[in-house]
Amino acid sequence: MDELTVLITREQIAAKVAEMGARITADFAGQSLVLIGVLKGATIFLADLARQIKLDTTFDFVAVSSYGNAHQQSGEVKMLKDVDGSVEGRNIILVEDILDTGLTLVYLMNVLRARRPKSLKVAALLDKISHRTHPIDADYVGFTIPDKFVVGYGLDFAEHYRNLADICVLESELEAR
Ligand code: IMP
Repeated sequence: MDELTVLITREQIAAKVAEMGARITADFAGQSLVLIGVLKGATIFLADLARQIKLDTTFDFVAVSSYGNAHQQSGEVKMLKDVDGSVEGRNIILVEDILDTGLTLVYLMNVLRARRPKSLKVAALLDKISHRTHPIDADYVGFTIPDKFVVGYGLDFAEHYRNLADICVLESELEAR
């Protein structure tokens, strides 16, 4: 049986997301934004963050290959779904649930930068900084967390637990590692 231990409560998440939204609103005052969410994990974070940004804001989404069910990375990233709209000349914020090795975001930043946006920033709710193998820092970070496997608030284990309101450590998975 999977054992879940709450790491970050829904109240802590809500307070942090409000803070991040306020910072983004201040940083881009008077401008418009495109939030690009990385499917599927970032959907809940994007939905909450977007409502804390008091600017003209549109959404787009990308999907990339990631852990799959074995939660092992192959070391390469593949674009499964590209953005629908143009990035050129726009203020882009790439919205990611968790920054782990950095592989996914380094790949996406390179792809998007080549399309000449006006600006390109990263908002990551969680940062597993000790696990980083690819050099990248998010511009807006919610929480720095230890190297534990977490689920909830959009994050999954084999597609499960995305709908948990709190962010939890999946204990049984850790033991099996
Ligand atoms: P990176 O490319 O190693 O930075 O990995 C980023 C992706 O790995 C995230 O978007 C998640 O899909 C997945 N991931 C990394 N750590 C976790 C975790 O603790 N729980 C669930 N998914 C994770």
